[in-house]
Amino acid sequence: MARIMITSAIPYINGIKHLGNLVGSQLPADLFARYCRACGHEVMFICATDEHGTPAELAAAKAGKPVEAYCAEMHEVQAEIARGFRLSFDHFGRSSSQRNHRLTQHFAGVLDAQGLIREVSEKQVYSVDDGRFLPDRYIEGTCPNCGYTSARGDQCDNCTKQLDPTDLINPHSTISGSTNLEVRETKHLYLMQRSLRDKLEAWIDSKTDWPILTTSIAKKWLNDGDGLQDRGITRDLYWGIPVKKGDQPWPGMEGKVFYVWFDAPIEYIAGTAEWADANGLGDDAWERWWRTDKGAADVTYYQFMGKDNVPFHTLSFPATILGSGEPWKMVDYLKSFNYLNYDGGQFSTSRGRGVFMDQALSILPSDYWRWWLLSHAPESSDAEFTWENFQVSVNKDLADVLGNLVSRVTKFAKSKFGETIPAGGSFGPQETALIADLGARIRDYEAHMQAMEVRKAAAELRGIWVVGNEYLQSAAPWTVVKTDPEQAQAMVRLALNLIRIYAILSQPFIPDASATMMTALNSDDWSWPGDVHAAIRALPAGHGFAVPENLFRKITDEERADWQMRFAGIRT
Ligand code: 2FM
Ligand code: ZN
Repeated sequence: MARIMITSAIPYINGIKHLGNLVGSQLPADLFARYCRACGHEVMFICATDEHGTPAELAAAKAGKPVEAYCAEMHEVQAEIARGFRLSFDHFGRSSSQRNHRLTQHFAGVLDAQGLIREVSEKQVYSVDDGRFLPDRYIEGTCPNCGYTSARGDQCDNCTKQLDPTDLINPHSTISGSTNLEVRETKHLYLMQRSLRDKLEAWIDSKTDWPILTTSIAKKWLNDGDGLQDRGITRDLYWGIPVKKGDQPWPGMEGKVFYVWFDAPIEYIAGTAEWADANGLGDDAWERWWRTDKGAADVTYYQFMGKDNVPFHTLSFPATILGSGEPWKMVDYLKSFNYLNYDGGQFSTSRGRGVFMDQALSILPSDYWRWWLLSHAPESSDAEFTWENFQVSVNKDLADVLGNLVSRVTKFAKSKFGETIPAGGSFGPQETALIADLGARIRDYEAHMQAMEVRKAAAELRGIWVVGNEYLQSAAPWTVVKTDPEQAQAMVRLALNLIRIYAILSQPFIPDASATMMTALNSDDWSWPGDVHAAIRALPAGHGFAVPENLFRKITDEERADWQMRFAGIRT
């Protein structure tokens, strides 16, 4: 049994996430967490809401609410939707927690003690009409790198370049739209990332098994010249973690807060501490996941995120950890994703384009979405959601292949032999061949899951469902029963056991359908089918079962057309 820690990039608090966000971090992280648990490993799976910074302040202002109340409310909304998608976090924390305040201030204090923080008097954009500085998203303009006209002060959404507000061409305030801006002096803390460059490079170079997408982005930022600038880690904002040196005041920094990207990844640690608090456990309970001097040396740590988050997790956060000189657990494997596009364009939160998580659940249960999203995960390149493709996948894979097999087998078994597993006959050459094929396929499936090759794992799982259907098609117990009922009983016994194996294998992808299958089979033995010969005999003759409700329904052409129309516009 291994100890596995998994974190998903923590979603911004402002607004409900779209399906592109979901498939780029939380959902594949959940798939992997479920798989690791199913294999019997000890898993710690942490996510949280990313609550600080300008996006939160701006969204709260738009909603006409104090930012604290807005965040508390939106955290609950996101937590409820996460439950709806069956995201199996051990804890869904909040980056605004006291735990994160203390840890973030701790890291800043330690980095300062290591000589890695310098104070910089710098020029910032000040809005005369708004009477305040305009950090990050309070300012927009044209990206100096790619020419995108809605680039934000901290990052260009189009080319992902990290920016300073003063870099923007033709800037304006996003509060008032005012262009009456001037540059004024203000003092900020900088993390001296440049002096950590060699350490960071050696660390990245040691990660020889990382996906190309991850390593290429990390290397690009490391070597681009401007990739590893010292970074400002404080802001002139109201909402955030007050700048302190550990628990001591930081002279000259009164009224300032840490930059959201400084405190957000620290929430992975703080979220684990929140988990311990929520379960009435002491500090040792979370430290054994995070402190290599307190038991975390044998933890394997996986992070999941979209490609735009990679620079922060391969350079900025590791700089915080390495710079601290303290024995914190660092990520072992960083799985990153390309973008999912929506019906001929981009998903966009700011423009309200695409299907958002709450809307998705309002039209179909989570398994349908989980299956499509994971089986089309944007791994080697960007992927695209289309309603046609969604309809085809659901109808074929879920309804025709898996759902049909379960319903056909259970109904036939019940009508011919009653509601217990029949005892007659024994396995012949067809059954033996199927078992051998299954054994090989399950090993492939495990290998893809272990490697976090999400699409390949989904394809193998579909293949496993298909061979079951092919077996039934050729074995044809409904014909055999007329001439050799004993043999038909053996076939049905195998097929019912096959359903249990499918439930276990499919659970990371479609947990609700799996639970329905297991309930129908009257089983709570979820042990992984490592030995397929044993697993195919796990439910013995005489064991009771029931015919479940249809696992999946088909999406009609009318529904598809209706949804396509309904989600063609812009969500307001
Ligand atoms: O891109 C995002 O949604 C960010 N809120 C991710 C932060 S991940 C980490 F740093 F915590
Ligand atoms: Zn750009």
